[in-house]
Amino acid sequence: MSRRVAGFGTTVFVEINELARQCNAVNLGQGAPDFDGPPEVLVAAVKAVNGALNQYAPGIGMPAAREAIASHAECFYGQKVDPDTEVLVASGATEAVFAAILGLTDPGDEAIVFEPVYDSYVPNMIMAGVTPRYVALRGESWTFDPDELAKAFNHRTRAIIVNTPHNPTGKVYSRDELSVIATLCQKHNVIAITDEVYEHILYDRVVHTRLATLPGMAERTLTISSLGKTFSVTGWKIGWAIGPAPLVQAMNQAHQFITFAVASPLQAAAATALRLPFDFFENLRETYQGKRDLMLAVLQKAGFKALKPQGSYFIMADWRGVAPSRVQDDIQFARWLTTEIGVACIPPSIFYQDSDKHLGKYLARFAVCKRNETLAAAAERLGKLGKF
Ligand SMILES: Cc1ncc(COP(=O)(O)O)c(C=O)c1O
Repeated sequence: MSRRVAGFGTTVFVEINELARQCNAVNLGQGAPDFDGPPEVLVAAVKAVNGALNQYAPGIGMPAAREAIASHAECFYGQKVDPDTEVLVASGATEAVFAAILGLTDPGDEAIVFEPVYDSYVPNMIMAGVTPRYVALRGESWTFDPDELAKAFNHRTRAIIVNTPHNPTGKVYSRDELSVIATLCQKHNVIAITDEVYEHILYDRVVHTRLATLPGMAERTLTISSLGKTFSVTGWKIGWAIGPAPLVQAMNQAHQFITFAVASPLQAAAATALRLPFDFFENLRETYQGKRDLMLAVLQKAGFKALKPQGSYFIMADWRGVAPSRVQDDIQFARWLTTEIGVACIPPSIFYQDSDKHLGKYLARFAVCKRNETLAAAAERLGKLGKF
């Protein structure tokens, strides 16, 4: 094994999923829906397979998919992008972020991330020889200290990654917070890479703002998103980046030798998905609002102190009110909840660097992207809590 990857270990996701399977637990760990996407989108994929759309797509993506991505960006955010030069289709947001890092940074550069941080960004940076700089999100509304952020910028800073709506906290960055980030990016000539895969999973009528739409940011931002979360097709791995042509071209320099091209029939279905009528996106929001409200109530009733997310698939909850005293940290808690109560969750300390793991020590992350029957089964089991 190379030194480059030897430190990565296996993710706790793998362990918890396996434990959940062995214990027949209701799995609220992984952020993947246990229901299918919209029938029209599934039919479009089947039609494309049967219609002989089964050979390599162009490396930058099929024209129909790129046009739909551009049209979705204009329709929802007023972004005007050229589908031929300012859009790149990648194998999920995960590959898009990695290709962006590889295409835009040099070894020795630094990149800023907010903690808790989605688990692929830092390994991506390490593989690229880039040093991560962490800025913590703190308190119940997961805010960052603007001075701490300002101090994280220096002459080596090449990029900042902003994930909004945020996994695992459910935070949606406000326009004011994004303005602070935008000002610093412009002052230090830094590129922003945004991960917006939960752009349509929003609660309580909160507005999702794209950093790229703030003054002076279009020319220095790569906006990344994907089909998986919005259309409940996480297994398809169709993602994309939108940005100015030079940044997209730099990203494609890496992408062309990572995956080269992405599944053709699923790109055809992406074109259908992204052009679904507005009602689809409204209904999605309502459906998720119901799931979040239900799970917030269940967790609170069971004795957790649940933090209200503004978006994403997740609820973070403080478990100190429900666990027996022998449970000392979030990893022990996740194992205990899975094996003893039969509900799997994710221990959030995995989203922190070693020196900050204490910030996630008393929390658990629950995914709400599950059928109502699944959530009801979890509720029944969580109802057993408080009896220890
Ligand atoms: C913040 C964030 N980014 C990216 C991804 C993965 O996206 P994709 O499946 O499009 O690669 C996830 C999935 O959990 C996520 O939570």
